[in-house]
Amino acid sequence: MALDKPYKNVPGTTIYDAEQARKGYHLNQFAMSLMKPENRARFLADQAAYLDEWPLNPIQRQAVLDMDLNTMIAEGGNIYFLSKIGATHGLSFQQMAGSMTGMSEAAYRDMMLGGGRRPEGVRLKDLDGWTPPSTEKATTMRQDAPAKYTSALFTSHVPAIGAAMDLGKTEEPYWKKVFDGYQWTRKWAKENTPDVVILVYNDHATAFDASIIPTFVLGTGAHYPVADEGYGPRPVPDVKGYPEFAAHLAQSIIQDDFDLTLVNEMVVDHGLTVPLSLVYGEVEQWPVRVIPLAVNVVQYPVPSGRRCYELGKALRRAIDKWDGEELNVQIWGTGGMSHQLQGPRAGLINKEWDNAFLDHLIADPLGLTEWPHMEYVDEAGSEGIELVDWLIARGAMDDQFEGEAPDVDHRFYHVPASNTAVGHLVISNPVGRTGLADDDAGAAESVDEALAPEPAATAAVVNA
Ligand SMILES: [Fe+2]
Repeated sequence: MALDKPYKNVPGTTIYDAEQARKGYHLNQFAMSLMKPENRARFLADQAAYLDEWPLNPIQRQAVLDMDLNTMIAEGGNIYFLSKIGATHGLSFQQMAGSMTGMSEAAYRDMMLGGGRRPEGVRLKDLDGWTPPSTEKATTMRQDAPAKYTSALFTSHVPAIGAAMDLGKTEEPYWKKVFDGYQWTRKWAKENTPDVVILVYNDHATAFDASIIPTFVLGTGAHYPVADEGYGPRPVPDVKGYPEFAAHLAQSIIQDDFDLTLVNEMVVDHGLTVPLSLVYGEVEQWPVRVIPLAVNVVQYPVPSGRRCYELGKALRRAIDKWDGEELNVQIWGTGGMSHQLQGPRAGLINKEWDNAFLDHLIADPLGLTEWPHMEYVDEAGSEGIELVDWLIARGAMDDQFEGEAPDVDHRFYHVPASNTAVGHLVISNPVGRTGLADDDAGAAESVDEALAPEPAATAAVVNA
């Protein structure tokens, strides 16, 4: 059940995976800097001084000075990045490749002229005891997994909620109705702080502009600064990542046929920070490490609810394969509920549909996967499509792997927060049972029917 990395044993070969990429991040970025002529000139003029600008470890640094590609690769370098160093020294790719084989340049050239190196004897399958790797996908839980998926938390991530907190307006009547719905959660969160939150959200043209549209983004970095979305960055802590666990998740999920975009450096917008604020309040540091998982719902085509649910299943298989330290893992699904921020239909709210969505999310997630994306847009508004994000956290739960159904700990629904219906749900796998369940958790709380006018001071700093 452990993570499968059969490529580790291919003779004379180092595969550049997320773990290697993490180790060699600055080495590869240094090599990329040599794409600019002025940097190549500075490097050649004084290699040691140029390298002082890059946080390489001593082994990496010496390997660069020695042009020792094997050591650079062992230290996380990738040949396509490292070739920029070779090019700077005027080496051809054949000279670089030959330098790693222990052969003379002439002998390597002659070998290639003679048809290249023969594969017999240098393949994984030539090793004693080799068996083909399993490609079966787990359909049941790993009972003794060190990483436990305890609870799923779902919430809208309306930017105006963050602004209300940042401007000290949480006790105003308009906002108090929203924040009252999170009081239970604040208490629960203090007693149920996980080691890591995998936080599913969507970027709102913040980290990703129109030049690149990744469908699923997994944050594999150590640190994520809070974005400036046009009003200045929110006055909340930056977010700590968990690179080792994220690299593990990436490895497993991509092997599970999901093509993630891996991002080591990005800013995070309200989609990620507002849920943290709602759950943890005003703090000096977030009490959890966070692995961002961003879903494109800005530019069509967007992934279907079914696709997100299946990603959740791949995510759970990845969590179950972790063989590191014991971890309490929560997955949060954020965005929604019904809202439309554009055009003549702006302001659309559909409380009946929203609550049907919550009902199905709790009791019939597989049925929910059959709702086409047009259903979300048509019924819940153009921005209501964010709700597909929630299917990821739900697809990963125990009952989707032949385990028990989750407990419904807390459920809340309110209209409005700025332009949006607020939905919030905490459900726990049996391992995450706390006995803290809300008395009314099974039913939707009363809907504030009146669309109260938004306070002018808040309206000035929000745009969603
Ligand atoms: Fe959003």
